Amino acid sequence: MSKRIVVTGASGGIGRETSLALAKDGHALVLVARRLDRLVELAQDCLDAGARSADAAALDLADPATGPRVADHIAALGHGELVLVNVAGVAHFGPLHETPVEDHLRQIQVNLLGLVSVTHALLPQMLAAGRGQVVNVLSVAVHVAFPYAEAYSASKAGAYAFGKSLSASYRRQGLRVTSLFPGATDTPLWDSQRGSPPREDMLTAQAVGQVVRELVRLPADRVVDEMTVTPPKGVL
Ligand SMILES: NC(=O)c1ccc[n+]([C@@H]2O[C@H](COP(=O)([O-])OP(=O)(O)OC[C@H]3O[C@@H](n4cnc5c(N)ncnc54)[C@H](OP(=O)(O)O)[C@@H]3O)[C@@H](O)[C@H]2O)c1
Repeated sequence: MSKRIVVTGASGGIGRETSLALAKDGHALVLVARRLDRLVELAQDCLDAGARSADAAALDLADPATGPRVADHIAALGHGELVLVNVAGVAHFGPLHETPVEDHLRQIQVNLLGLVSVTHALLPQMLAAGRGQVVNVLSVAVHVAFPYAEAYSASKAGAYAFGKSLSASYRRQGLRVTSLFPGATDTPLWDSQRGSPPREDMLTAQAVGQVVRELVRLPADRVVDEMTVTPPKGVL
């Protein structure tokens, strides 16, 4: 059954591969990130892969107005269960005392506040329909303490708590919420980090995208509340 699916952070890495994986099931997609050129290219790739429609929405999740703008894009999509896949995120790993505070605050802004903003904007439509799904792409950093990742870990742990409470509040009204904890994944996120685990040991973004596709394909009579997916070597 074709659904209406919003993927944030669709312009690269896990979000891009998730969008392409979901496209194969013929859904209507809204692709959200800041880089319009990449979204436009991805939209065409999604259509080629089988998407019912693919809409490029160049928006900044650090802007509180973004949530309502995403809801506007959904309004034009017609029928189908509404699914929100929150993928967008930034990471600035480094010594807290040596790096600008803005780098750390930005992770909270995008990874936590942006996720809250978009979820808040789409929730009323899900409740009105009596069904909806939210998949939050978090991180094993919620459960594992990595050094020099304080704000990143806090943003993901905050999003985890947000999702758990969201589920407790609305699951009896048809909302299904999944917290997905991927381990290290080979994406551009690591390009700007000083030192990273071996890229060849990481998950591929395609693998994580396939996991999200499976979560979206789950029949409505079950909920995967939490899922951890790690590379064969485990937490790197
Ligand atoms: N890579 C890993 O090892 C790993 C592991 C576990 C979890 N994760 C999580 O997976 C998610 C995707 O990460 P990735 O590895 O695929 O990284 P990535 O390749 O750097 O992709 C990040 C995505 O987020 C978007 N984004 C960043 N800031 C944004 C903003 N202000 N507004 C809108 N979109 C924004 C980027 O698009 P624009 O730049 O075009 O805006 C891009 O599409 C993140 O939440 C990350 O924390 C990653």
